[in-house]
Amino acid sequence: MPLTLPPIVEPLTRTHERADFDCGLPELNDYLRSQATQDARRSVSRVYVARASGSSAVLGYYTLSATSFSRKSLPEKEAKRLPHYPIPAALLGRLAVDRSCQGHQLGKFLLFDAFHRVLHAAETLAVYALVVDAKNNDALTFYQHYGFLGFADTPSRLFIPMETLRMMDP
Ligand SMILES: CC(C)(COP(=O)(O)OP(=O)(O)OC[C@H]1O[C@@H](n2cnc3c(N)ncnc32)[C@H](O)[C@@H]1OP(=O)(O)O)[C@@H](O)C(=O)NCCC(=O)NCCS
Repeated sequence: MPLTLPPIVEPLTRTHERADFDCGLPELNDYLRSQATQDARRSVSRVYVARASGSSAVLGYYTLSATSFSRKSLPEKEAKRLPHYPIPAALLGRLAVDRSCQGHQLGKFLLFDAFHRVLHAAETLAVYALVVDAKNNDALTFYQHYGFLGFADTPSRLFIPMETLRMMDP
């Protein structure tokens, strides 16, 4: 049954039901089922899940962690404004929506939830950009739709400067 927005978005805990989660990509399903809790516990990733009020079933999730990149990996126009040492960034490593909810704006809702969290974190810790890894061409198009730009050296990796997010005021 499609979700009525807005969903509840909160950090993943053991009480969330994940066994039936299916976004269509086994790698992203398996991560949620087998790896996500451990990653969150070890603070190597923050995992946020969406659920409907009154249910513990996960309908979508995303992960955030810290990363950095070299200015050499950026397009020339962006690179020339940046220093030669590693550029701090946030990584949206995974974003997935259960098939039952795809096409009903939950992916967009989760992406904007991530934008808010990263903007908030960037008030305390310098973050130049939000980086995403697109698992396939569909994901690439989805992110480009929201203004993400491609890295010069890794076509499946995209970024959006925090400056752009601030101007969007998501
Ligand atoms: C990609 C994914 C997260 C999108 O979530 P969703 O809930 O289906 O997407 P939404 O309904 O929120 O779509 C929001 C917008 O993105 C657009 N969009 C959605 N999927 C798209 C796609 N594959 N290509 C281009 N645009 C897309 C929609 O048209 C919509 O545009 P609008 O706001 O102008 O109307 C979801 O389909 C998914 O989990 N796919 C499998 C896993 C995956 O590929 N994850 C990607 C990151 S690794």
